[in-house]
Amino acid sequence: MERIVHVPLEGRAYDVVIGPGLLQSAGTRIAPFLKRPRVAVVTDETVADLHLESLRQGLGAAGIEMVSLALPAGESTKGWPQFTRTVEWLLDQKVERNDVVVAFGGGVIGDLVGFAASVLRRGVRFVQIPTSLLAQVDSSVGGKTGINAPQGKNLIGAFHQPTLVLADTEVLGTLTARDFLAGYGEVVKYGMLGEAEFFAWLEDMGPKLASGDMEARVEAVARSVQMKADIVVRDETEQGDRALLNLGHTFGHALEAATGYSDRLLHGEGVAIGCALAFELSARLGLCSQEDPSRVRAHLKSMGMKTDLSDIEGTLPDAETLLELMGQDKKVVDGQLRFILARGIGDAFVTADVPISAVLAVLQDALADCAVA
Ligand code: GLY
Repeated sequence: MERIVHVPLEGRAYDVVIGPGLLQSAGTRIAPFLKRPRVAVVTDETVADLHLESLRQGLGAAGIEMVSLALPAGESTKGWPQFTRTVEWLLDQKVERNDVVVAFGGGVIGDLVGFAASVLRRGVRFVQIPTSLLAQVDSSVGGKTGINAPQGKNLIGAFHQPTLVLADTEVLGTLTARDFLAGYGEVVKYGMLGEAEFFAWLEDMGPKLASGDMEARVEAVARSVQMKADIVVRDETEQGDRALLNLGHTFGHALEAATGYSDRLLHGEGVAIGCALAFELSARLGLCSQEDPSRVRAHLKSMGMKTDLSDIEGTLPDAETLLELMGQDKKVVDGQLRFILARGIGDAFVTADVPISAVLAVLQDALADCAVA
């Protein structure tokens, strides 16, 4: 059932291995990259409790010794204090230039540890073992690493490609339904942005995926990763096409900021609602048919996902404030907001040419059913 997606970046090519039970064979898979049989693993406390022992055994089976650090779970870990702690711990563990650091966790761990690896001794190699669906289909692949600043998310970081990615789909079994569906928002995003046939497959297979069908999970992760790999190889540092991966993110980040990056709205949930809004905006601008946003919303709803602003608990700021929050997104270029819009499902494109009045109107209508602060 195992699948391998190769990311053919010149001089920095690597494999993403996808399948169940990869923790058990992690040792033999990582061994070819080691100069000595020892790795430093950084994880979070939740993943450590659930899976660190399996990883230790998987590494031990190939004679690899492991030292580990477990950081607190959650987005607030992704800042300077835990970053400093991680870098200093890696130095205390005497990690050398030729050693390999392992990021074992969700997006927060992958981003923070990847960034730590990028600056430690001017750069050491790292292996991603992503444990959330979101990390498996998005953040562990493509080399974006970093931490949050008080001024905004992901504003401090570096491009640093991993040496290997092991996406163990069995580990997804311990995710809460909410976390799984938040990650699923990023999976559907790939269908919406570049492959109508994948979107149709998800309409069909989504419920099976959610209920744990392993073959469907491997297929969905592999297709998502393949699409991401293709885009990253075309545009590693986001000069153009890579921005397509931000479909739904301009609206989504504004909603995340409005809800204080809290449990009220997970990143993947913000992306899903943001995708619905991006399709609504595209339809109003006459770029796609009105059926497309309806189809997007129908699929998200049928999966039990947050789809509308009214699905977010509590009050939201008004449309002008949300627009202001969009302007603080890092996807602003020369002060202009860039949007990812669509000519249809599977056909997204990047543009700065969007009338602000149309964005405001979409937000105002979307807020009409909500409690507004
Ligand atoms: N998550 C968007 C990207 O990797 O470009």
